[in-house]
Amino acid sequence: MPPGEILSPRIREYMPADYEALIALWRTCDLPLKPDGRDSRKRLEAELYNGPGKLWVAEVDGRIAGAVLATHDFRKGWINRLAVDPCMRRRGLGMSLAGIALNYLQKDCNLLISAILIEGDNPESHALFSRLGFKPHPDIRYYALRNTPEA
Ligand SMILES: CC(C)(COP(=O)(O)OP(=O)(O)OC[C@H]1O[C@@H](n2cnc3c(N)ncnc32)[C@H](O)[C@@H]1OP(=O)(O)O)[C@@H](O)C(=O)NCCC(=O)NCCS
Repeated sequence: MPPGEILSPRIREYMPADYEALIALWRTCDLPLKPDGRDSRKRLEAELYNGPGKLWVAEVDGRIAGAVLATHDFRKGWINRLAVDPCMRRRGLGMSLAGIALNYLQKDCNLLISAILIEGDNPESHALFSRLGFKPHPDIRYYALRNTPEA
């Protein structure tokens, strides 16, 4: 897509037919994907159908160009797996998707706090979430217990 061209995305909720394209997008965006763990079709769809999480995709010309997953445990909301196709960045799509996820967590789910984990050096994400008002925590260390390395 030519630089600067204005996008007219259609943002809608995930459907099972989107799975392959969604995984391809997340791979293209170098997200720390767990296709044999929590990003497997079975686990992802079970999470969406049984839990309070929602996943949106952005279609541009019929192709999935962006996505975001909002989840919560009733105590805290999380914005996960925000991704925009590298050819379509810096046109506001990431902000639109993050805004939809945040609106869902704050308004629909009435949560008082929403959070994001940003791995490694990721100035784009730091800049985007800072613009939305997120503040980095100065001294939290993330610990995880995984049932398998792919979890
Ligand atoms: C982070 C990401 C989703 C941003 O998508 P995007 O569509 O380019 O974001 P937007 O166009 O909505 O940008 C919104 C704001 O974020 C900031 N921003 C985004 N990309 C930036 C960059 N490369 N450098 C500096 N600031 C940037 C800017 O403030 C920008 O506003 P501006 O364009 O008016 O200056 C995209 O870079 C991406 O998919 N990255 C890889 C996946 C990833 O790391 N996801 C986050 C997991 S925590």
